[in-house]
Amino acid sequence: MKLAQVYQNYKDFVMPTYNKTPLVFTKGKGSILWDMQGKKYLDFFPGWGVGNLGHCHPKVMQAVRDQISKLIFIPNSYYHLPQAKLAKELIYWSFPGKVFFCNSGAEANEAAIKLARKFGQGRNEIITFENAFHGRTLATLAATGQVKYQEGFQPMPAGFKNIKFNDLQLLKREINANTVALMLELVQGEGGINVADKNFVLALRKICDEHNLLLIIDEVQTGLGRTGKLFAYQQYGITPDIITLAKGLGGGLPIGAIVAKKEIADLLTAGMHASTFGGGPVICRAALAVLKATQEEKILANVNKMNEYLFKNLNVLKEKYPLIKDVRGIGLMVGIELNCEGSAIVQSCMEMGLLINCTHSCVLRMMPALNVNKKQIDQALVILENALRRA
Ligand SMILES: Cc1ncc(COP(=O)(O)O)c(C=O)c1O
Repeated sequence: MKLAQVYQNYKDFVMPTYNKTPLVFTKGKGSILWDMQGKKYLDFFPGWGVGNLGHCHPKVMQAVRDQISKLIFIPNSYYHLPQAKLAKELIYWSFPGKVFFCNSGAEANEAAIKLARKFGQGRNEIITFENAFHGRTLATLAATGQVKYQEGFQPMPAGFKNIKFNDLQLLKREINANTVALMLELVQGEGGINVADKNFVLALRKICDEHNLLLIIDEVQTGLGRTGKLFAYQQYGITPDIITLAKGLGGGLPIGAIVAKKEIADLLTAGMHASTFGGGPVICRAALAVLKATQEEKILANVNKMNEYLFKNLNVLKEKYPLIKDVRGIGLMVGIELNCEGSAIVQSCMEMGLLINCTHSCVLRMMPALNVNKKQIDQALVILENALRRA
């Protein structure tokens, strides 16, 4: 198929729900992507947070190949080994409890919302935070604190209250007899790389304990090492009641999961919740390979090392270019806030072979693969500086 035909097929046959960049990729390896004409790109936003181990990690490919040759799918009405192993691994690396498997971040958050409502026995209000992003299904849209995503789809399901992020006094005032849970990202990704204050998070844990509320941490983007710990909540020294996972867990294949602490994990019983594809053998093998590679390849240590290097250099750029208002983030979840719209800079980076993202119109977002190296960071910084100079 020729390039023009690819675009034409999308135009004619795919719903136009995405702003698309005119690039057709055919191959990926680690932090490198190749387009249809063989041009190479350094991918510093692999899969919108999916590519924690970069493209086509060999251990993930090997696990998937092996599983596909044995058994591709078996429904959740039976047992299989990969799910049994993956659930145990997730609990080992998080906290005592149980796992529910699904296929995406939104579905994981839906499951968390249903579990919270079941826990509430009538209490059903979940407090979420401004600029949060929890997904595109109706309940997760209602939980998402950004009106722009809700426009045109009203009425939103009831049971959500959205309040200012990092404002403890306000939160205390908003809790009432109907509140059942607080739900948040510890680093708001789509919302502009806004990091939750440590004291705020410690207080949330305490408030949840005092009021018998569930603390739901959406780790869809922050999970699996992105912040330098396997899960972002581990940066704060708290244990949530539920975490929701997706993106990086599948090494590029679709997965969603929630981990719920053991006291509430048996509340959803047979027939109450389900997902046909959730936790199938192939995806579980992929996720097991992701967890194994993360440990074996000392990915977290690399995140912390590369964080230092990248932030040091981005702060040098900040000193040099008044266009940069702020550099923030944790681990390899980086936001560069500009004094202007960021789309032109993203476009020039792309032309020079670097893929990054812009969120909230003025925050450049870099989330490179967690096994990125110094040489690749240097290359990215040169391109970014050229793009800043052009701007
Ligand atoms: C924090 C967070 N939660 C939930 C979601 C929704 O995930 P999905 O697109 O897999 O449904 C996203 C997606 O970007 C996200 O960043």
